[in-house]
Amino acid sequence: MTAATSTNMIDQGLANTIAAESKMSFIDGQNGVLEYVGIDIDALARNSTFEESVYLLWHFRLPSESELAAFTDQIRNEYALPDQMWQLIKDLPKTASPMHAIRTLVSALAMHDPEADEQSPEANTRKGIRLLAKTPALIANFDRHRKDKDFIKPDPSLDIATSFLTMLNGEKPTDTMAKALDVCLILHADHGFNASTFAALVTISTLSDVYSAVTTAVGTLKGPLHGGANEAVMHTLNELGDISKVEDFVRGKLERKERVMGFGHRVYKAYDPRATYLKTFAKQLAADTGNQNLYEMSRRIEEIMAEAVAAKGIHPNVDFYSATTYYSIGLDIDLFTPMFVMSRIAGWVGHCIEYLQDNKLIRPRCEYTGPHSSPYVPMNER
Ligand code: ACO
Repeated sequence: MTAATSTNMIDQGLANTIAAESKMSFIDGQNGVLEYVGIDIDALARNSTFEESVYLLWHFRLPSESELAAFTDQIRNEYALPDQMWQLIKDLPKTASPMHAIRTLVSALAMHDPEADEQSPEANTRKGIRLLAKTPALIANFDRHRKDKDFIKPDPSLDIATSFLTMLNGEKPTDTMAKALDVCLILHADHGFNASTFAALVTISTLSDVYSAVTTAVGTLKGPLHGGANEAVMHTLNELGDISKVEDFVRGKLERKERVMGFGHRVYKAYDPRATYLKTFAKQLAADTGNQNLYEMSRRIEEIMAEAVAAKGIHPNVDFYSATTYYSIGLDIDLFTPMFVMSRIAGWVGHCIEYLQDNKLIRPRCEYTGPHSSPYVPMNER
């Protein structure tokens, strides 16, 4: 906090501001703990599915077998896209980056939903289900469009991860690949008031609508200081190409006071628990798919960063090993952040519904530091 000239303090980046209460996810940044509704993220990654974790986040408890079956059915019944959405995908430039495309497509979904402006928790949950269900088809089929491939419709007999990979690649994924993506979706589903969730909350707090909030959030997630970091990590690994180049690269970055992407976190000053899980996962998948080099380079970057900056609380974050994981699943690099979108819709929508229970317009102030009592100088005298 820095002192402002008024009686208030400036909290730059809102780093010390607790903006509201939430029962969804708990983060202990000093000890590297993340829980969804009290359940450790590691237990969820090992035992749950993405669909079940979303139920947990939205209902604050695990579902019974029949509740999970009903919730899964609700999602799958909403997989299909309105006819005009297929045309809209076709109309997008093939050169567009997927994140720009998805922001536009998610926004357009609102215009096909008669409940778009309904604000009841039930209507907002239904919209959340629609967003969760339709976004994978939007991402996969935008990718097919840009590669001049025919569209593939979502298959309601498949879970979200399997249906997505089937649309993307035109064939069913192996169980290992589908499980890998499902686990990534679980790990990214919620994370307190991160930048994109907070952006969604700013929007919903004006009593706008869930589609607008999610569109805001997609745009916020895109930045390389947030969800875009996983793509930046992969570009770094590709540019390096060989483990022998890692040391000079990392030390050079640190000397120039530049960021090494995939490291550091506003909240975690210990190891990000999602990265702990993803590291093991990335190692296994890289070995299975002949991408050991990527894993070895990542491990070496981590080693050098640990020597140099771990004492300052800078460790790998969720984006560091998710890069190798997504690459090993066979995803194009510019689809990494869209995977984050597919998952974080759970957090964005859940937090919007929770916040609306006791809504207060989010509207901070700024400390004005410009001049006062300035004259208006006529144009010909400036
Ligand atoms: N590489 C090198 N140094 C770093 C890094 C990094 N990745 N991250 C932080 N630092 C250093 C800063 O240079 C600064 O050092 P100084 O005190 O000597 O000036 C110190 O750590 C504190 O950094 P801040 O930027 O003040 O910390 P902040 O909490 O604002 O930053 C952030 C968090 C933005 C995530 C930062 O760590 C970063 O830029 N990381 C790289 C991008 C990234 O991986 N983002 C993904 C985050 S996870 C997510 O959003 C899903």
